[in-house]
Amino acid sequence: MLIDTHCHLDFPAFSPDRDAVIARCLEAGINYCINIGATLESSAASLELAAKYPQIYASIGLHPHDADTFDEKGQARLRELAAGKKVVAIGETGLDYYRNLSSKENQRQAFAKQIALARDLNLPLVIHCRQAEEETLRILKEALPLRAVIHCFSGGQDFLEGCLASGFFISYTCNITYKKAEGLREMVKLTPLDRLMLETDAPYLSPEGFRGKRNEPAQVKLLAQEVGRIKGVGFEEIARQTTQNAKEFFKLS
Ligand code: NI
Repeated sequence: MLIDTHCHLDFPAFSPDRDAVIARCLEAGINYCINIGATLESSAASLELAAKYPQIYASIGLHPHDADTFDEKGQARLRELAAGKKVVAIGETGLDYYRNLSSKENQRQAFAKQIALARDLNLPLVIHCRQAEEETLRILKEALPLRAVIHCFSGGQDFLEGCLASGFFISYTCNITYKKAEGLREMVKLTPLDRLMLETDAPYLSPEGFRGKRNEPAQVKLLAQEVGRIKGVGFEEIARQTTQNAKEFFKLS
């Protein structure tokens, strides 16, 4: 059994054949998917998918790219959505100083609001962080105790060690299979297996050999094999431990 802890099955890329994608994912042994809200609309769509498919759970959040749009009405709506059935996390939220699609100030505020929401509801946080490692870690540490996973980890060793020391989980995507991802594979080696989770971030980040194509949750199997190869651990053990991590982190029943 495997779990895709971060995918976006509500995105239009899956509209033509969503049922088939989910069927393939079950055939590949991926028993659960956490569908991640990136906007208010996609958070609502996440809830709808969770209601329709037994194996899908929802995370409710607003991506830092959209922080400029996060007014009081939006905050109230997010809180309302977060009370929905099968909501297992808040996010994705965080800071993206690489693309800077929203102002830094608005990103910080949206991040702070979602941390507060997660604390109120006793839910873990799904963190997006690009080129904002120091600040993300400082903000999260100031809000401890909380549970968080750093999604699509792309930082360096200092950030990794800081996150691990704060008790956070690290999740890796299929980009660890890329030819030039030697640095990232080093981080996989340094991440203890009992703090590691797997995700596709589908439809994004297809593995090597599939680049340019739409990614899908079934590829978690290939990802688990690659993590096993990097760490010198068998596939069964990778599957067992990462599944246990995800079940405990998201409190899946
Ligand atoms: Ni994502």
